[in-house]
Amino acid sequence: MLETDDWAALDVARDHAIRYLKDLDARPVDARSGPAEIVAAAPPALPNGGEAAEAVVRELVDLFDPGLVASAGGRFYGWVTGGTYPAGIAADWLTSAWDQLSGPGPASPAANAADVIVGRWLVELLGLPDGAMTGLVTGTQMANFTALAAGRNAQLAKVGWDVERRGLAGAPPVRVVAGRERHVTIDTALRYLGLGTDSVVPVDCDGQGRIVPAAFGDAIAAAAGGPLLVCLAAGNVNTGSFDPFAELIPVARAAGAWTHIDGAFGLWAAASPTTRHLTTGVDLADSWALDAHKWLNAPYDNAAVIVRDPDALLAAMSTNADYLTPNETTVDPLAKVPEMSRRARGFAFYAVLRHLGRAGVADLVDRTGAMARLFADRLGALPGVRIVNDVVINQVLVEFADADPAAVAAAVRASGEAFVTPSKWAGRPVLRISVSGWRTDAGDVDRTVGAIEGALRSR
Ligand SMILES: Cc1ncc(COP(=O)(O)O)c(C=O)c1O
Repeated sequence: MLETDDWAALDVARDHAIRYLKDLDARPVDARSGPAEIVAAAPPALPNGGEAAEAVVRELVDLFDPGLVASAGGRFYGWVTGGTYPAGIAADWLTSAWDQLSGPGPASPAANAADVIVGRWLVELLGLPDGAMTGLVTGTQMANFTALAAGRNAQLAKVGWDVERRGLAGAPPVRVVAGRERHVTIDTALRYLGLGTDSVVPVDCDGQGRIVPAAFGDAIAAAAGGPLLVCLAAGNVNTGSFDPFAELIPVARAAGAWTHIDGAFGLWAAASPTTRHLTTGVDLADSWALDAHKWLNAPYDNAAVIVRDPDALLAAMSTNADYLTPNETTVDPLAKVPEMSRRARGFAFYAVLRHLGRAGVADLVDRTGAMARLFADRLGALPGVRIVNDVVINQVLVEFADADPAAVAAAVRASGEAFVTPSKWAGRPVLRISVSGWRTDAGDVDRTVGAIEGALRSR
């Protein structure tokens, strides 16, 4: 029998959430339990009887709390993981409570409008071309896929091939020029799109992961003459480096290519006067992908695909059926993204952008960048420790003369003090530190450097 006052569950969740966020700094950063222990502690089969909502929330907390990682806190530096601003969390709660269907426009004028407003703000904030169209998707994987679908459509249309109708069998081959250090989600997108990873013409990169212009020119010359996609990066996932857009994109354009920029986190550098120079020329591209859940510190899952030519995006994504009754004044959310029914993620995106304002986004980029440089200064001063990359934004790569980065990362995580991860750069093992959370301050850097020193001492 269910209890009637299930609304109390919301109060319990709110109280727990606020306590969790306030106590975040005091808890060990890594989880205390692994998934197998949590699975073992849960009912093995779904019980026949239901449970009151409030009790379910309490059970959720008891069962899953040991497996939580304090990634929303100031000492989590794994992958590229932002925290969440309270404004974003609150908007996310409202998104669930409002439970809007963000698909056919009339299903929620509010959700439809949030997408439009966020899109307009992004284009302006990042200095992208007026009139570019934005769709909100789950992450940059999906944004890369969506943008390259639009590019595939447009490039094949230019040679008279309607890929939406005819598919790829028998189509002229599409080549993809991309740096050797491209993010793996570009390859995944090409697989999803039926282009296959063999379509890539890989281009050599320099020691920071930036495409070498001369090699790019050669690759374009070799691949030109048919449908051509070019993938560039704003923010290499390891080094944080940026391809030289102003040099490369005119070459791609002259060859008639569609240029896409994977800017999952790095594109936010365009929002700060301090780092904007790194993105010079991004506005020349045809499409862009960026996450809100990484460096902007919006809640998961939230990202944007932006396409210069709205018709190309709509041709690749839009869908219709008699029962959908499209909106007459704005483009329906479902016309711009792969999903049909979809969370109204524009509300949380709106809330974080509105909370920060232009100056706040710039400050976030600058502050986290300053903390990354502090890491580089502090760690680089230790004996046997070398900083491998130019710290241009929020990424730091660390090499040890006589320690295995994976073992150092494991020891730091086990200490509960911080969360760092190993990677490889130029084939060599490195420790990777990504300062993406809004909470990280000099005290956090201090504690993390202490934990790394401790790990090095105790080998
Ligand atoms: C450069 C780059 N591109 C794409 C992605 C994939 O983004 P998401 O995990 O949001 O799909 C990442 C994730 O770290 C990234 O750093």
